[in-house]
This record gives sequence, C-alpha cells and structure tokens, in this order.
Amino acid sequence: MNGLTLSEGEFRALAAQVTDLAARYLAGLDNARAYPQVSGSAVARAFGEALPEQGLQARALDALGPVLAHSRAPTPRFFGYVLGSGEPVAALADLLASVLNQNVTAWRSAPAAVALERQVVASLAAAIGCAGFTGSLCGGGSMANLMGLALAREARRPANERGAQPGVVYASTEVHMSIPKAVALLGLGRANLRLIRVDEDYRLDVAALRAAVAADLAAGNAPLAVVASGGTVNTGSIDPLPEIGALCREHNLWMHVDGAYGALAALAVPAQFAGLAEADSLSLDAHKWLYQPLDCGMLLYRDAAAARAAFSFTGDYAKSLSADPLESFAFFDESLELSRRFRALKLWLSVRYHGLGAFRAAIGADLAHARQLARAVTDQAQLELLAPVALSAVCFRHRHPGSAADCDRLNAAILGRVIERGRVYLSNATLRGQFALRACFVNHRTQAADVAVIVPEVLAAAREVSGPA
Ligand SMILES: Cc1ncc(COP(=O)(O)O)c(C=O)c1O
Repeated sequence: MNGLTLSEGEFRALAAQVTDLAARYLAGLDNARAYPQVSGSAVARAFGEALPEQGLQARALDALGPVLAHSRAPTPRFFGYVLGSGEPVAALADLLASVLNQNVTAWRSAPAAVALERQVVASLAAAIGCAGFTGSLCGGGSMANLMGLALAREARRPANERGAQPGVVYASTEVHMSIPKAVALLGLGRANLRLIRVDEDYRLDVAALRAAVAADLAAGNAPLAVVASGGTVNTGSIDPLPEIGALCREHNLWMHVDGAYGALAALAVPAQFAGLAEADSLSLDAHKWLYQPLDCGMLLYRDAAAARAAFSFTGDYAKSLSADPLESFAFFDESLELSRRFRALKLWLSVRYHGLGAFRAAIGADLAHARQLARAVTDQAQLELLAPVALSAVCFRHRHPGSAADCDRLNAAILGRVIERGRVYLSNATLRGQFALRACFVNHRTQAADVAVIVPEVLAAAREVSGPA
C-alpha cells in the first residue's frame, strides 16, 4: 500500500461526506443567491494557500465549504449565457465515471464506454431527426465546431498532408465566436470567413449568401463550407436550414450546423428545425440544453469516412488488435481527442432515469418561460424587446430618453446592479450595436414564479442606478 491508497471504509466515509454536502447544496438552491457576494481579492485570499506537503486526510474536505460558498450556484433563477443547470443523476454518474477511469480512446481500451457512447450518440441523433448520423462526445460546442470545420476542410480542400489551401467559409454576422477561432486554427485565415448579413429576425440572409458565393467564384476563390446556426448565441435565431442546405448541394459546399445552443430543442419543437438533417456535420451541447453537467459537447456527422479522413493517424501502440468491426473501433480515428473521459455515462444514466419525454417537457417549459418573459417585457412601458424570441433567449432593455450611448450605459449599469442584488442572474448581448439585457432559459429548475422575478428586478435595479428623480 502506498500513501495514496484508501481503504474501502475511508472511501465510504469520504463519499458520504461529499454526498451529504452535495445533497444539502442542492436542497438549498431555491433560496440561494443567483450570484455570490464575492470580489477578486476575497476569492484569491480564500484559495491562496499553497498545496501542502503533508496530507490533511479527511480535514482536506473542510475546504470544500468555501469552494461552494464562492461559486455561482445553479439556482432556478440563473438565466445567463447558454448554460445548462446540471442534472444531479448525471452528476452521480460522473463520480462513477471517475472511479471507473476509462480512457475512451478505443474499444480496446474501454469496451463498455465505447459501445455506450456510440449508442447514446446515434440514439440522440435519431431523436433530433438526424437518424443515421454518428459522431462522438467532446469538451463542448467550440471543440465540436473546430472538428466539424476540420472535416469540412479535409473533404473539400484537403490540407492534412501538404498544408492548408485557400478556401472560403460563410456564416452569418451572428455566428458564435468559436467559428472565427476554428477558421483561424485550421489555417484558412479569418479574412476568408465571410460574415453574411442577417434579416430582421437575425437569420442568415440566403440571397446575400448566394451573392457572396457567386462573387467568390467569379474572383477565383474556392468556397468551402457554410456554417448555419441552429440557434444563434445572442437571440436563438435559427438560420433557414433547408435553403442553406440546397445552396450547399448546388455548389458542393460542406454544410456545418452550429447547434450548440439550440439544436437539442428539436426534441421538443422538431418543426422549427426542419432541414437539420441536410447538414454534413452538426455540433450539439448536452451541457447546454440537455441540462448535463459540464462537459458534454457532441459532434455528429453524416459520413464517418469524412471524420476518419480528417483525424485518422494512428501511432503503432494504439493500433487495433482486432479485425472485428466493433472491437476495432477507435474514437481517435474520428476525433481530435485521444484520451477522453467517459462522458456518455452521465448522459445515458440521466436519460435512462428520467426518459426522453421528461427532457422534451423541460425544453418545452424553457420555451414557455421565454415567451412569459417576452410578454412581461412587452407589457412594461419602461422596457422594450430587442429581438423576436425564436427559442429561449430573450433580449431586451430599459428605455432611455437620451442618446444611444446613454441607453447602453444605463443598461450596462442595470445589469451590474441586477447581478449585485443576487436574486436573478442575467447576461448581455450586443444587437445591431445596442447593449441588450439577455435572459436565456436552459434551466430545468426554473418555474414560472422565477421568471416573474426578472422584470421587477430589472426595474428595481434601474431605480437604484438612476438615483432619486
Ligand atoms: C451557438 C453556440 N455555438 C458554440 C458555443 C460554444 O460552446 P462551448 O461553450 O460548449 O464551447 C456556444 C456557447 O454558448 C453557442 O451558443
């Protein structure tokens, strides 16, 4: 036994302590602040101690209290960014995944984990209308988008052997920041990402896309791929997928759909995602709208051969020892990642426990909460809605009689004050140059009563930052 070994009794005692802490934390979420009262220096002081040379044994766990206290709690009134709420059955599965410590590189290394991940991915793909797609889990939407565009590049302008060739990628001005990042990392150059204007609903304007492709062809450039958003990060707008799909087929362009925010909502509202299956590749994020604990991104693709063309490059030590099609399967042949944690376990257990129907219903409730907030904003003369509500993101602001800059300043101050007040957590967006308050509902804990708090909180914060009239 070395100094790192735990007895069964010690493990049980520690696990009981952690379980108790987690259970009490979850039980207190309803009344927890949406943001802790913290400052940079206070948090740095709380965790400023160097790592100990001598172990503290069970006393080490005493420090978990401050970690929880200084963290932003996943309360029912958290509406920031696009961040799921952390489903607890999945959290328990994550503990077991760490105990099992499977390295989900290949079947050879992790037979159950590989079979389960392949099954979960195929089954979710079918559930959102993309039957026949396969893929893998990954760190998040950014990684999935990078890998999706790597597939696109290798399929249309192969680069793996001789380096990147010029190629043009198209996306709307509302596209997530991970796309310009991916285009840069793949050596295509951000100057070759054409940001196409959007219509009044923040959806990519297909006529403008068509014109941009024609202009590039006329100039001798090589159009390569279109990235359509299946729920833009700012407003949740869904680009016209069938039309984009048709244009891609016409010009032999790779169609990647960034569905990291929205595409899992196809479980609840499939009609809004007509055309999703036109995609060659599709990013999803189960740690967003499937409420899974981080991290749980996913890349789906129609043709596994395209993924292998992009990623298969195997060192001898990892080569398959079997000719059996199941036993020779390796995720590293289709993914950028080699060492991978057993992410599928949480997704599988969580969906097995609750059933897909419960997730559809929770997504439906999020959509209803967004409509509820949109109505409350519209009914309040001091506020205005800044974009149509396509999915579950609501962008709005407090009106201001002064200049646009004054209005932006007021709303930025309101956001700061809302967060300080700690009853709800909102984030922000910039829409046509305007600062917007933004609430995004991907939270299985939220009830209508929590949504009803948002407008009064914004108005209270506005009174506080405006001072006496
Ligand atoms: C549309 C969209 N794409 C990609 C991402 C990136 O996902 P991740 O944060 O999991 O990398 C986000 C994150 O909010 C998003 O909304």
